[in-house]
Amino acid sequence: APLTGVAAVQDHLQELQKIAEANGGNRAAGQPGYKASLDYIKAQLDGAGFTTSVQEFDSMGGTTYNLLAETPGGDANNVVVFGAHLDSVSRGAGINDNGTGSAAILQAALDYAGSGATPKNKLRFAFWGAEEEGLVGSTHYVESLPQAERDQIAAYLNFDMVGSPNAGYFTYDGDDSDGEGAGPGPEGSAQIEKLLNDSLAAAGVETEGTDFDGRSDYGPFIEVGIPAGGTFTGAEETKSEEQAQKWGGQAGEAFDPCYHQACDTIDNVDTQALDRNLQAINAAVTTYAEQFPQP
Ligand code: PHE
Ligand code: ZN
Ligand code: ZN
Ligand code: ZN
Repeated sequence: APLTGVAAVQDHLQELQKIAEANGGNRAAGQPGYKASLDYIKAQLDGAGFTTSVQEFDSMGGTTYNLLAETPGGDANNVVVFGAHLDSVSRGAGINDNGTGSAAILQAALDYAGSGATPKNKLRFAFWGAEEEGLVGSTHYVESLPQAERDQIAAYLNFDMVGSPNAGYFTYDGDDSDGEGAGPGPEGSAQIEKLLNDSLAAAGVETEGTDFDGRSDYGPFIEVGIPAGGTFTGAEETKSEEQAQKWGGQAGEAFDPCYHQACDTIDNVDTQALDRNLQAINAAVTTYAEQFPQP
C-alpha cells in the first residue's frame, strides 16, 4: 500500500533531497533541481486525478514555473487555495524551507483524493517558483489572474517552513490579536487563524500569532483582499525561554539554525512538528472542501 500521512511526507522530502544532490546541491529557481522538483510533484498529482497546469514566468533573467493542481470537482466560484513555495535558495537543498510546506500540501492533496470525497468547493494546490527571489511566482500568479478569477478565490492558506528543527508553532495573525505590527488580514483571515489554532490546540499545542509581514507568498493575496492564513514553525529568529517552556526545544537558539544554509537537508526537520502541521493542513482541507467561511 502507498504511504500516507507524515511517513509519506518524509518520503517526498527524501526525494527532494535526492533531486538536490543530483542537481548541484540545490533546487533554486532557474536551476535544474527546481524543474526536477516540479516534475516529481506534478507526476504525483496527475496520478491522483488532479487537473494540473504549469505557469511559466521570468525571474532574475531566467525562466521558471508555478505548478497549479485542482480538484476536477467542486464549485469553481468558490475556490480554496493551499500554497507553498517549491524553490530553495541556491546555497542548499531547502528541505525545511520549503520542502516541508510543499511536501505537506502535496500529501494533504493526495490523502484527500484517496478518500474518494468530492468537494463542494474547488480545492487548488499551488507550488510557487522564485519565492526566494522576492515572491515572484505568487505575485505573477495573482497579477495575471483576471479580477473575475480573483473573486472566485474564497481563501488562501500558506505553508512556508513547517518542520523547523527547533520548532515554534505560529499561525498568521489574521485578527491582529496583539494589536501591533502588520495589522489584521482581509476579512475572513481571522476565521482561518481560528481553525488552525483550534486544530493545533486539539493536539495539545498552544500557538502564537505571527504578523502578515510580507515575507511569504500570502503577500500578493492579501494585497488584493483575499482572506489568508497558514502556519509557520520559525526561521532565523531566536526561541525565547518562555517559548522553550511551552514548546520544548532550545531557548536562545534559532527556530531553524540552518535557515538558508547548506545544512538545510533531510536532517533539518522535526518530524513531530511536521506531523502536527500536516494534521492542521488536513483539517483545513476537509473543512474548507465543504464550506468557507464555515457556518
Ligand atoms: N519566506 C521566508 C523564506 O522563504 C521564510 C519565512 C516564512 C519568514 C514565513 C517569515 C514567515 O525565506
Ligand atoms: Zn527562504
Ligand atoms: Zn520559505
Ligand atoms: Zn491572532
